[in-house]
Amino acid sequence: MGNDIVWHAHNVTRGERAKNKNQKPCLLWFTGLSGSGKSTLANALDVALHERGYHTFVLDGDNVRHGLCSDLGFSDQDRVENIRRIGEVSKLFTDAGLIVLSAFISPFSSDRRLVRELFPAGEFIEVFMDAPLDVCESRDPKGLYQKARSGHIKHFTGIDSPYEPPGNPDLRLDTSELSVGECIEKVVDYLLEKQLIARE
Ligand code: ADX
Repeated sequence: MGNDIVWHAHNVTRGERAKNKNQKPCLLWFTGLSGSGKSTLANALDVALHERGYHTFVLDGDNVRHGLCSDLGFSDQDRVENIRRIGEVSKLFTDAGLIVLSAFISPFSSDRRLVRELFPAGEFIEVFMDAPLDVCESRDPKGLYQKARSGHIKHFTGIDSPYEPPGNPDLRLDTSELSVGECIEKVVDYLLEKQLIARE
């Protein structure tokens, strides 16, 4: 970064913005294999929290890769840059006072840790979507596992590209055992317990 760029503080602080919205901003970071249910849960929670009057926003791998990250592929290096950008964007959205739901495979522990370090303690919530590979593969909602197995897609996470499971996630949801509704309940309970949202 050039030395001529000076950080300019906002006149309205992040705390004041959040107060106007009557909520505590945070980042729910869903990580897991393709097909583990990240986007499904993030979008369902978006609806559930929105209905309770909260200001939320979903960032999703498949969508962000059409715009902000359309120049990136799936090499290790590109995935690192993908997650770095999403982390920074998530930070901007929480600074704006939102509850952010980010759904990216984010296969590398070190990248997830870097995102965590952008946030004050307790504001980054790592949600491990812990569905076994064979379950994700049998769901194969986009037919991508089949393409990866037949060699038509290279560097596919879980097949020929690694996924490093979180050692100490804030929440672990096994979506092979829990329904979407049960997952929503667990996340909402967590947010209530941490007083990030209030009882209705
Ligand atoms: S990440 O690894 O950089 O975090 P991200 O979540 O943005 O990945 O994108 C994953 C989505 O891209 C998958 O849900 C899938 O639809 C699609 N995709 C296409 N190619 C690959 C690949 N080689 N590995 C994983 N996902 C892929």
